[in-house]
Amino acid sequence: MTELVSDNAEVTVLLVDDNPQNLKVLYETLKDKGYRLLIANEGEKALDLAHRHRPEVILLDIMMPEMDGYEVCERLKADPETSDCAVVFLSALDDLQAKVKGFNLGGADYISKPFQSQEVIARVRTHARVIRLERELQARNRELQGDQTRILNAIDEGIYGLDEAGIIEFANPAAAAIMGCPVEDLVGRNFFDLHFSTASAARDNLPVMATCRQGVAENQRNIRMLRADGSGFPAEYRSTPKLEDDELHGAVVVFWDITVELQNEQALEDAQALVQEQRDQLAHTSRLTTMGEMAAGFAHEVNQPLTAITNYARVSKRMIAGETPDLDLLRETLDKIEAQSHRASEIIRRIRRFVKKPATGKEVLSVSVLLEDTRQFAEVDMRNNEGGIQLDVAEDLPEVAADPIQVQQVALNLIRNALESSRAAAASEPVRVTASRCGDKCVRVAVVDHGVGVPEEAEEKLFHPFFTTKDDGMGIGLATCRSLIQAQGGDIGYERPEAGGACFFFTLPVAGVEGQPCTEEPA
Ligand SMILES: Nc1ncnc2c1ncn2[C@@H]1O[C@H](COP(=O)(O)OP(=O)(O)OP(=O)(O)O)[C@@H](O)[C@H]1O
Ligand SMILES: [Mg+2]
Repeated sequence: MTELVSDNAEVTVLLVDDNPQNLKVLYETLKDKGYRLLIANEGEKALDLAHRHRPEVILLDIMMPEMDGYEVCERLKADPETSDCAVVFLSALDDLQAKVKGFNLGGADYISKPFQSQEVIARVRTHARVIRLERELQARNRELQGDQTRILNAIDEGIYGLDEAGIIEFANPAAAAIMGCPVEDLVGRNFFDLHFSTASAARDNLPVMATCRQGVAENQRNIRMLRADGSGFPAEYRSTPKLEDDELHGAVVVFWDITVELQNEQALEDAQALVQEQRDQLAHTSRLTTMGEMAAGFAHEVNQPLTAITNYARVSKRMIAGETPDLDLLRETLDKIEAQSHRASEIIRRIRRFVKKPATGKEVLSVSVLLEDTRQFAEVDMRNNEGGIQLDVAEDLPEVAADPIQVQQVALNLIRNALESSRAAAASEPVRVTASRCGDKCVRVAVVDHGVGVPEEAEEKLFHPFFTTKDDGMGIGLATCRSLIQAQGGDIGYERPEAGGACFFFTLPVAGVEGQPCTEEPA
């Protein structure tokens, strides 16, 4: 900074003395030191030059006719253009009071007459340097303030500076725009009175109050704030304590209107609900289709107990017609009729449950009971499958949280595909359905067959809607399975067994275990 001052002709020094001889001496002393020198021989002229040229240093004689140095100094300090100049008094009055008066009026220094040139040079250099530095600092501060103001003006969020009592000390233009009134109308008002309904009991416990009073940073969403006209809007705000030297001086509150955000969230929720509804609808249609395909099997299945009932009824009638009916045998026969009718109604119950709409929703259920029920259901469709269905459930398998009908639909789809593939390959091995634990969070169900298997190029398309290799297939079975299992928070996939055939598996979350959807974990 030394160079700045000593080598910079921009540093201006104003010399003020009514005595031309003194002026000459001062001028001679400073002339080759790299300063721009200005000269005035009376107060008014000094003030005029100072106002126009903003000198860094003013050497000011005290004793002058008309306007003395004190008055000049007072007026220099009163003019914002010149208030920062360093005024160095020159006087033969070497008494303490004169000096004190000079300093009280804003003087920076004092040189006694007759002055020593070395002293004048040294003091001017020092003061010039200090003033230059101060001016640079001020310019930098103004720049920073300008940047800060530009940033605050450009931000969309409203920003308030509050004191400890919640009085608004500062508001940015966005705050004014959100609140619907000019910044001037906000500053000085109480933030809590202005923006929160006094009727609201929650008002006294607003987190932002804790920021103002206890210095705790807070965040609150979906709080109702009032505009200047009394209308309300949903807002979110963040409040940060204003600390200076560890002392609390209120809070800075950044807030914004979340009306549109809430609308978007609502629209997303509605869309998700619609997707869910359509998925359930599709799953239901698919269950109806499956029932249609299995109708012949069911007819056959129900027909068996009905035929048996008819036969037992005939036998019973004949027994009654006899002279001495064997009542014990008759009771036994009637018990058989009852058992057969239970068997028929059980089949019908299962069908009715399966086609019920809507799906029942998530329940805590036993995989083993559900799979056994599904196996009996699927056996209707076995036609000439040699091997049948073999169920293998690990002991002490935990219960899962899932929609029973939808899980049954998935298991039935996979088992029917496996039966179909086994039939096509005329496989004698059974379709194996296994259930085992998979990590802490899920249960894994796998359906393995020894059928025709999946060609490699088909693997990635298996779960695509409408992918089928069957003449009468629709190709929606696996796609439906995937969407149903994902809705349960589970995972579904295909694995190529080494022994040929196919292995399809799905996972379900263990009941009571919250967390991420369960995906296949390496064993
Ligand atoms: N166990 C399996 N073994 C071999 N290929 C299979 C097996 N399961 C599914 N696939 C293949 O995946 C395709 C798609 O199965 P998906 O169940 O989605 O439809 P689909 O059975 O063809 O018709 P549908 O919609 O009537 O179920 C099948 O056409 C078949 O090529
Ligand atoms: Mg299928």
